[in-house]
Amino acid sequence: MQPSPEIILTSEQLRLLDALHGRDFLCLHDYSPEEIAGLLALAGVLKKTKTKRCNALANKQLACIFTKPSTRTRVSFEVGIKKLGGSAVILSATDSQINRGEPIADMARVLSRYVDGIMIRTFAHSDVEELAEYSTVPVINGLTDDFHPCQVMADLLTIQERLGQLAGKHLVYIGDGNNMAHSLLFAGAKTGMHVTICCPVGYAPSSEILRQAQEDALPGTKLEIRHDDLAAVAGADVLYTDVWASMGQEEEKEVRSKVFARYQINQDVLAQAAPDCMVLHCLPAHRGEEITADVLEAHADEIFDQAENRLHAQNAIMLALMGSPYAVVA
Ligand code: CP
Ligand code: NVA
Repeated sequence: MQPSPEIILTSEQLRLLDALHGRDFLCLHDYSPEEIAGLLALAGVLKKTKTKRCNALANKQLACIFTKPSTRTRVSFEVGIKKLGGSAVILSATDSQINRGEPIADMARVLSRYVDGIMIRTFAHSDVEELAEYSTVPVINGLTDDFHPCQVMADLLTIQERLGQLAGKHLVYIGDGNNMAHSLLFAGAKTGMHVTICCPVGYAPSSEILRQAQEDALPGTKLEIRHDDLAAVAGADVLYTDVWASMGQEEEKEVRSKVFARYQINQDVLAQAAPDCMVLHCLPAHRGEEITADVLEAHADEIFDQAENRLHAQNAIMLALMGSPYAVVA
């Protein structure tokens, strides 16, 4: 592992981040390459101070809505805002009025009067867009069927820390063309990282999202979809995978386990990649399905750093949207 470059925020980055106050964080498509670079730099600064608490979000409240399960997202947001001096209120579908059909627009307007920010994990991305439309406080996407932008911010931070830079690196994602694949396409587009999505025919990312990501792509950035598992991996700097059946696709699990059988990160696949290739997984992992146990354990440092980085990346996002980065960096 190469040493991380020193992370310093320039005054221009600080001004840029300060201007994010009040914005939503729904998809990387909505953020400029400079804003994403600034958020990653701020996350690095916050990571360095991880043992300390600070009061940058003193008295700020975050509502966290979950209509899908979570371990990392729930704990990292709740612990994260506490570290910044604020607190979180967790709302699940079963113990709130969500499952009883309260309109999203009403929930948005009510919560906006109680809290300073809303994080939501749910199914339809359009529900999160509606929540953001009616909220007067920032809305953060904690995963939808289409996107997982907080996860890719942690992924970018992990790659940047270990490889020193993102531009020009080649990430190969093996698996379903799902919310992670979509988010990684935007992550590549905005940072200049080449992204190959290697998936079975019929399980490719949305062509509209690919088109948008290609439109967003920094000059020289290659985004591609391939279906040939081993060949796609040649020279990769980062291999990435995710579950074959996402939350909400439980009934397709059996069919998917057959369709995806060849789309696994194992020693044979790893042997085709660049020497010292990183392996990342957003977790939870299913050993023996999308990744073998030996590969996961051999790359556990990277994968659990990646999980830790959820905390730092999200704290940077919350700080920029709900507070001011000057509070910790100035
Ligand atoms: N990676 C991720 O979002 O994990 P959780 O589902 O546990 O939140
Ligand atoms: N694609 C997975 C990601 C889990 C973090 C899912 O949506 O279930």
